[in-house]
Amino acid sequence: MGCAYFRSMDEKPDDITGLSRKDVRLIRRSWKLIQNKSLLIPTGAELFVRLFSAYPEMMDYFQTFNLRESPAETNQKLSEHALTFMNGINLYVTYIDDPELWVALLHKVAISHLERLVTTKDMERMASFFVKTLRSQLGSSFSVESERAWDRFFYFVNTIYAQVELQINGIIRKRSTQTISTKTSSRTVAP
Ligand code: HEM
Repeated sequence: MGCAYFRSMDEKPDDITGLSRKDVRLIRRSWKLIQNKSLLIPTGAELFVRLFSAYPEMMDYFQTFNLRESPAETNQKLSEHALTFMNGINLYVTYIDDPELWVALLHKVAISHLERLVTTKDMERMASFFVKTLRSQLGSSFSVESERAWDRFFYFVNTIYAQVELQINGIIRKRSTQTISTKTSSRTVAP
């Protein structure tokens, strides 16, 4: 009875992030493995290579490296970006149990990426390849339960992204409607 109580507390989803304490533990454990085995850059680089081979058009967001000209294995810029990206994920994992701070971080990254016209769909593609890449790098150390925990992690990350995208699109629509109506009303007034 007591045991069942603690198990259910351990699996209770957080009100904001939807992640249970067990999810947090599994995510932190797999992330530690990636760090301890010096897999940060290889994982990030493999992720981008997989992503770009499935969706070559996503390469066009990046001006700093071009996989069409320089292959992934020797592309220094790709390694640098892989590390930048993985550092971003590292911050998420660090603040995973501080939802307010995590949400603030997610907003910051969302705004900087929406400015580059990265869509929620792009983010979802990235997330799905990220989880596949973790599986390929960690092999049997990456359990099905860990995989589900990471899926939930990115579900939350992308929900926030989609919310910010909607808000920004709403602001842009409102501004353009105001501009149109100002133009229309000035036309009506003009002789
Ligand atoms: C969870 C998902 C992602 C995280 C955590 C992340 C993280 C970051 C970070 C920390 C930076 C550098 C700081 C900044 O400019 O904001 C960055 C830059 C960038 N990201 Fe992301 N990113 C993600 C997804 C994506 C996706 C899906 C794309 C588009 C395919 C993308 C495209 C870019 C580009 C083009 C830059 C600028 C690169 C440069 O100037 O060299 N990111 N990202």
